[in-house]
Amino acid sequence: MNRPIGIMDSGVGGLTVMKEITHALPSEEVYYFADSMRCPYGPKSQEDVKQYTKEAVQFLIDKGVKAVIIACNTATAAVMPALRDEIDIPVYGVINPGSLGALRKSDNNEMLLLATEGTIKSGAYERGILSFDSDVKIHNLPCPEFVDLIESLDFENSDITRKAVADKLAPYKNTAADTVILGCTHFPIIEPFIDEFFNGRKHIIDAGFEAVSVALVQLHKKQLLSAHDKTPAHRIFIHGDNNRFEKVLNSWIPDIDYKIENIYLQE
Ligand code: SIN
Repeated sequence: MNRPIGIMDSGVGGLTVMKEITHALPSEEVYYFADSMRCPYGPKSQEDVKQYTKEAVQFLIDKGVKAVIIACNTATAAVMPALRDEIDIPVYGVINPGSLGALRKSDNNEMLLLATEGTIKSGAYERGILSFDSDVKIHNLPCPEFVDLIESLDFENSDITRKAVADKLAPYKNTAADTVILGCTHFPIIEPFIDEFFNGRKHIIDAGFEAVSVALVQLHKKQLLSAHDKTPAHRIFIHGDNNRFEKVLNSWIPDIDYKIENIYLQE
């Protein structure tokens, strides 16, 4: 139970998930794998994303994690639920929790899904949402530009981010959708701009946040939550080089101890 929780993402997006865990349960140690070398996953084939995700998960298992959160919607769409049959520790994805969170919030059953091309093409959100209720209207909007904006750190310039959000979302300003699903774990980083664009009038669902709520309850049931009595130092494994990663980490989760290691998987 005192082993770390593993989180994997293509880049900085999973930090939004790590923030939720470290704040909800400060005694949990996190091992984070960022596949910066192969980011973004969104435009890549499902086969490639599946292989990358399995490699990342195996890396974390070899490091001794007790459970893995796939903190990347594109990766979740590619490997879940099949991955469950290949590994023997609990694995949690972000799409079904995000789908359920959106259904719970929406009053009119009309939603706008913001995600990568890969996630949208996979149809995973539609399957997830429509399996609960077939009478839901979903507007799908691929937003790969937002991933680039965040990974490049351009999002730190409010004018650039406000314009990028307005350019992308303008055609959807007046749809009846009352709920916006952040179907990419990068997007909560620019959530205030999305909320501002819609004048605070839409419910905004952070799929990563929804997934953490599920994962922590499930880990509690399995008696896998940590009994550490002090806050551990987390380990961040960056596949390849990413000299921007630490900046996002420090501004997004300023209050944690961590060690960053650059690693290179065998090709
Ligand atoms: C990406 O790597 O393109 C974004 C990751 C995600 O889908 O959450």
